[in-house]
Parts: sequence; structure tokens; C-alpha cells
Amino acid sequence: MRMYDLILKKRNGGELSTEEINYFVESYTKGEIPDYQVSALLMAIYFQKMNKRETSDLTMAMVHSGDMLDLSEIQGVKVDKHSTGGVGDTTTLVLTPMVAALGIPVAKMSGRGLGHTGGTIDKLEAFKGFSVEMPTEKFINNVNTIKIAVGGQTGDLAPADKKLYALRDVTATVDNVSLIASSIMSKKIASGADAIVLDVKVGDGAFMKNTESAKELATEMVSIGKHIGRNTMAVISDMDQPLGLAIGNALEVEEAINTLKGNGPEDLLKLSLVLGSRMVMLAGKASTAEEAEAMLKETITSGAAIEKLKEFVKAQGGDIDCIDNTNLLPKAKYVVPVIAENNGVVKKIHAENLGIVAMELGAGRATKESKIDLAVGIVLNKKRGDKVEKGDTIAYIHSNNESLIEKANEGILKNYEIVEGYKNDIPLIHEVIS
Ligand code: URA
Ligand code: CA
Repeated sequence: MRMYDLILKKRNGGELSTEEINYFVESYTKGEIPDYQVSALLMAIYFQKMNKRETSDLTMAMVHSGDMLDLSEIQGVKVDKHSTGGVGDTTTLVLTPMVAALGIPVAKMSGRGLGHTGGTIDKLEAFKGFSVEMPTEKFINNVNTIKIAVGGQTGDLAPADKKLYALRDVTATVDNVSLIASSIMSKKIASGADAIVLDVKVGDGAFMKNTESAKELATEMVSIGKHIGRNTMAVISDMDQPLGLAIGNALEVEEAINTLKGNGPEDLLKLSLVLGSRMVMLAGKASTAEEAEAMLKETITSGAAIEKLKEFVKAQGGDIDCIDNTNLLPKAKYVVPVIAENNGVVKKIHAENLGIVAMELGAGRATKESKIDLAVGIVLNKKRGDKVEKGDTIAYIHSNNESLIEKANEGILKNYEIVEGYKNDIPLIHEVIS
């Protein structure tokens, strides 16, 4: 087989066979095909697109390019949840203890944050001593006994995706539905999920800027899942403003703890219930979303979910005193209000830019090597649709460095759009696809 022929075929609108897809993924992973040929193929795919069969084949070829996590020793249906990436997205910390409290195994592989988006592992490290490093046996044992464990990406999962994603990043071929869908699904499948709940974000803080493209991506991923026998559901949710109020690691942990105690922001709770209820359904523990949501809410009122969080954090070496007393979490030296300069209603809070402001305060990484400050970030005081008067506090800056405050203040003011007479009509949940 020659790479040249694959490029030509796809360039002319042809369909790549299973063998051809396996050939290019395998050979590229081994370093046998140069970047320039793969770049040309990616660009041809970008313009000519792939059909569902090609997309499934590409997904499975990437799954088989490296290790697959064997979680067969975990009893029950292992349901994973994945978000396409947002700002202030604290749902994993909220929904996993709730789902585990219902006896459903949560075996979660998480990542660290990069750029304007946060990562669950960084957030969990706000619990002093918490670690995701553990042998696979311990990971499996924790899931079997307490029903929840969060690990880092170990081993060599989907190495083809790592190489292809890096190449797409520099060749303007990231935003193609088949390429994004296969990239995300290959990692979920390689990490051993039996069923998958996807949170596809839409809005200016997300990859997908409009509902049509988000729906296309969600439908494609659900179809890949079905095609290869992993039950998959997708929720299309709003990322046109940050989720909840907190953006930043310890701040989001505090927000999650409050939510599990029944005092969290409404949108964070709602999205956690919608995603969590789909996990419960895929695990076969409820037949309707209403039933599943009621079961999850009960874990909050009964205290089972917050107890589960304690059990989980303790099992991975973290300090749990801060769950009863959140003042023990890492705290920033300066907490400074951001004051509104005019009257009106909040029309927009630019999520991606606020993520960047939080990153510059130290809550995120500009590059993979950057060190993060767990204590810092932003806490919103006004959200879309809220009325604001000149002099009101719209947000708080949490910083450990006095010299960064002025720029953060400017950045937040610039990214809050406050206008007269706006009425919020953007829903939190756009659609559920199953
Ligand atoms: N996230 C991924 O993992 N892959 C993509 O291609 C896009 C977002
Ligand atoms: Ca949040």
C-alpha cells in the first residue's frame, strides 16, 4: 500500500477501506510515514469528509494503536462521562460521587488542564495529599469496594491520536467532525468504558460555536459508540458563559462540595443531574431520566453523596477535613471585587476569555510545563440574565499576586456584556441525543 494512493483517493472524494485506514494509522504511529503525507491526507479528509464507516474504522484503528485498559475485573457496567471542554466545568466533581453513591462503578480517567480549560486532576489536587498515581490493581479494587476511583492517563492509550492531534493542531485540521469524534471516542474506548455519556459544549467557550455543529458532532459520536457496541448518549449543553460561579481549582472544589451539600449554583446542579441521570440509565439502574434524577437528588438530601466524596478522597490519600470545613482548602491572599461600571442586564460572559483571565492569575497552564496555583481564580457574582446596577460587584478575583489584579479586573469587565433590556433565552441544555 502506498500513502500517495490514499491521499489521491481521498482528495478525489473516494472512500478509504478499513485496510487503508488501518495501514495509515499503524504506519504513522510507528513513524513510517512522514508528517507531510499525513498532513495532506488530513486536509483531504477535512474537505472531503469521512462517512460513518470510515469514522468508526479510524476510531478503532486509533484504539488499537496502543494499550487498552482492561477493567473487566470491575463488577457492573462501567459508565464514563466526557466533556468536550469548557470553563469552570465542575460537573465531574459533582456527579461522580452521586453516581457512585447509587452503587454504580465510576472508573474515571481524567486529565490536567491546558490553556483556558481546567482539568479534573488539578482540581482534585486541591485536597492536600490527593493522588491519581496508583497501580491498576488498587484502582480496580477501589472501584469494586467504594465504587469510585479517578486515575491519570496511564500507559500508552491511543498513541496514534496523540500524534495525529498534535499534527492537526498545526495544520488547521482540528475542527472536522469525524476527526474530533474519532479522537475523543478512541480515548474513551481505550480506557475501558462499557458505556459513555458525552457532554458536548456549545458556545463561544467551546470547540463548537453553534448548535448545528454541536449536534453534528454529538450525533457522530453516538453513532460511533453504537457501531462498536458501546452504548453512548450525548447532551448538548451551553458554554456561552462559564458553568456555575467558580473558575479555578480549589474554588471549584469548594463549589462542588457546596453543591453536594445542597447549596450549589443552579446550573451546575442541573447539568450534573442531567448527565448523571444518563449514566444511571446506561448502567441499567433506571428506565427514565426523571426516575434517575430523583435517585441522584436523594443522594444529596440523604448525605450519601458527600459521604461518598469523603470516602473517595480519603482512599486516594487526600485530606477530608476540608470537606466539612471548606476554609481549610487553599485560599488566595487577595480577594478583590470587580465593580460594574454601568446599569443593565448581563447579556454575555465570554467564557473562553474568562478562562484565559483565570489562567493568567495562575489557575491554568499556558504551556504543558507551567505550574498552577490551586488557590486562585474567579468567582462570578452575576450571571447571564441578572440585573446589574453601577457599583454592584459582578465577580471576585482571587489572587496571590497583587500585581496581577488590575489586568484581571480589566479582563473581567471587558468580557461581561451588560446591556439594557436583555432577556435571557439561551437554555442550559439544548438537546439530549441517544
Ligand atoms: N478533544 C479531543 O480529544 N480531540 C479533538 O480532536 C478535539 C477535542
Ligand atoms: Ca464552576
